[in-house]
Amino acid sequence: MKTVLITGCSSGYGLETARHFHAQGWNVIATMRTPREDVLPRSDRLRVIALDVTKPEQIAAALEASGPIDVLVNNAGIGLLGAFEVTPMSTAREVFETNTFGVMAMTQAVLPQFRARKSGVIVNVTSSATLSPMPLVAVYTASKMAIEGFTASLAFELEAFDVRVKLVEPGYCPNTSFTSNGGSRMEGLIPEAYAPFAARIFASFGQVTTVTSESDVAEGVWRAANDATGRLRFPAGPDAVALAPSA
Ligand SMILES: NC(=O)c1ccc[n+]([C@@H]2O[C@H](COP(=O)([O-])OP(=O)(O)OC[C@H]3O[C@@H](n4cnc5c(N)ncnc54)[C@H](OP(=O)(O)O)[C@@H]3O)[C@@H](O)[C@H]2O)c1
Repeated sequence: MKTVLITGCSSGYGLETARHFHAQGWNVIATMRTPREDVLPRSDRLRVIALDVTKPEQIAAALEASGPIDVLVNNAGIGLLGAFEVTPMSTAREVFETNTFGVMAMTQAVLPQFRARKSGVIVNVTSSATLSPMPLVAVYTASKMAIEGFTASLAFELEAFDVRVKLVEPGYCPNTSFTSNGGSRMEGLIPEAYAPFAARIFASFGQVTTVTSESDVAEGVWRAANDATGRLRFPAGPDAVALAPSA
């Protein structure tokens, strides 16, 4: 039986991905900054472990507690929407700490066991913002674009060890906690000079009809984790698929 470790399972795409792999009969290690057993089914194939991907000591402890894993899903991420001009560099760094360096640190931590066993898959969850530029998300897009380039390059050096790396690019989902989780970070990031532009963008968000569901992403991660064709990118959700270059 295979084992997957997923980051950021307290809500949204990560939570649904944990449920999906469990329903498919896998062992699931659902990691969360603040562990909550009640959001997932009770099962001897499911463990909840504390993990903040910006804390090296927690990464080491979580992997030690997990034992061997077959698939790592780097799903944890934070959003940021606002005008770049007024975005504090400390906030930009905070976004990169989770979305970019957190992914790199998790990847580095699992590679020794994957390389030694000559097997393993790392699935990095980025965003459809990497498929087509979107306004007011410059820092967020940069943090995810970095992982697109990182993953594409890493794929080459790990090929000889039969370790696979994949990208899942979800579209926009209004149902996850993504926007509310970013609330305080975004305060004051639309100054007066940008207000008319931002108002037009926010109005267009309200008119979106095609969105991504949590299960679109869970299925995308599942396909990526089990892919044997060498495909790198898996857009997830109809809006993401529409933006992706046709294969
Ligand atoms: N929703 C969208 O429209 C959308 C679109 C494209 C891509 N994405 C990406 O999809 C992924 C999941 O987002 P979501 O929509 O499911 O949002 P979500 O409901 O806010 O889930 C994000 C998860 O990441 C966790 N997290 C945040 N910082 C963390 C850290 N330092 N260490 C460990 N976990 C951390 C959160 O935990 P806490 O509960 O502790 O905060 C939460 O469990 C993210 O990478 C996001 O960038 C989302």
